[in-house]
Amino acid sequence: MPNAFILLAAGQGSRMQSDLPKVLHRVAHAPLMIHALTAGRALNPERTVIVAGHGAEQVRAVAQDHDPEAVVVIQQEQNGTAHAVAQARGALEGFSGDVFVLYGDTPFIRPETLDAMARARAEGNAVVVLGFHAADPGRYGRLVTSDSGLERIVEFKDATETERAITLCNSGVICADAQDLFRLIGRVGNDNASGEYYLTDIVGLARADGLACTTVTCPEAETMGVNTRADLAAAEAAFQARARAAALEDGVTITAPDTVYFAHDTHVGRDALIEPHVVFGPGVTVETDARIRAFSHLEGCHVGRGAVVGPYARLRPGAELANDSKVGNFVEMKNATLGEGAKINHLSYVGDAQVGDRANIGAGTITCNYDGVFKHVTEIGEDAFIGSNTALVAPVRVGARAMTGSGSVITTDVPDGALALARGQQVNKPGLAVRLMEKLKAAKARKAKMQETD
Ligand code: UD1
Ligand code: MG
Repeated sequence: MPNAFILLAAGQGSRMQSDLPKVLHRVAHAPLMIHALTAGRALNPERTVIVAGHGAEQVRAVAQDHDPEAVVVIQQEQNGTAHAVAQARGALEGFSGDVFVLYGDTPFIRPETLDAMARARAEGNAVVVLGFHAADPGRYGRLVTSDSGLERIVEFKDATETERAITLCNSGVICADAQDLFRLIGRVGNDNASGEYYLTDIVGLARADGLACTTVTCPEAETMGVNTRADLAAAEAAFQARARAAALEDGVTITAPDTVYFAHDTHVGRDALIEPHVVFGPGVTVETDARIRAFSHLEGCHVGRGAVVGPYARLRPGAELANDSKVGNFVEMKNATLGEGAKINHLSYVGDAQVGDRANIGAGTITCNYDGVFKHVTEIGEDAFIGSNTALVAPVRVGARAMTGSGSVITTDVPDGALALARGQQVNKPGLAVRLMEKLKAAKARKAKMQETD
């Protein structure tokens, strides 16, 4: 059955105390609403409609960056969840199939759960509501069920004492046939405790029409919503706990899982080893058998099979480490490739560079890639040996099997196989060190004597 997604994201999120729309706050480096959309992508939606209100232009930019085909519609006034869904009617014109309604601030709905809802729809239920058994039902809408399925949803504010005692709650996720959905929404009124148009009312209306409705349940953690900064931190913690468990499950060794932070899109291969206190920013792939040593920070990079990174390494966007290469302590790489078996073991900055296979970059090597306006490229050939404390002033090329002497400032290309020396010539003055030291000591003694007589 073709399906479409409506993501409700118009709310202000005033409890976040923020200038940023709530759904753009990030968990694991991805905006909350992108988590929700990613879960939905597994069902391959034909159309995606995002209902925005507060900060709509920012929401639109993020949505379309993620999915250029997503349509963003504006809900000028937030008159309730049914009113929000009604705004998507035009964007779903001509669509027939199932519509899923999700909230932009509820990031952890799993694709499997949406799949279970789709199956319940296929079994002939007009409306399928995702429910959960709440430890503390608080102010959630309550699901009133009977032997024949879901009867209606009652909002906390409008519920009787008996209804408030129900612990099966509404997560907010709803799936219905597109035609039914908009037809039923057209009949929703706002005669309730909040004076809002409740999406939840469509269940009672469907039942009155003789249509079947049912619930699918999921663990409470899955429906966790974000309303405050504390919720955001809790959502981050929940994400990390899950990502760590998933990596362990997939065959990654993590010495101290609680100290490792993943991004929403981190890929780590089987038999990779991650030491304590490693942080992954977005866009990282680590291949099998690689080892990420303690206190390293990686983002937008690729670490090849068997490569070793850190301890204390920083890989920035565009760092590409080939198989069995090594990046050691206090090394920063950016937009640079490191060839197979090549090494940058200590205290270096390598940016906008290509380093050939088996090349060895000595301690303290710096690629001087920026002239204040433009960035320039450094090329280092296969098997080259860069002496410690070499400054490579880009654009520059050091050839294959070439060497640079320690402390050199390399400003012109070094041919293949050549040794480049670009530093002051050493001069030795016999005996001068000893004479100079004696002179200095004598001067110190004179000074001490003068202070005594003062
Ligand atoms: C809603 C449900 C409640 C459920 C709870 C789960 C209704 C009437 N109630 O209540 O049964 O237990 O969620 O968290 O649906 N939004 C808009 N435009 C609006 C109103 C809301 O886009 O006009 C968006 C909000 O930004 C939010 C979501 O819809 O992401 C839910 O709105 P919210 O006001 O939080 O609904 P609740 O009162 O929590
Ligand atoms: Mg809410």
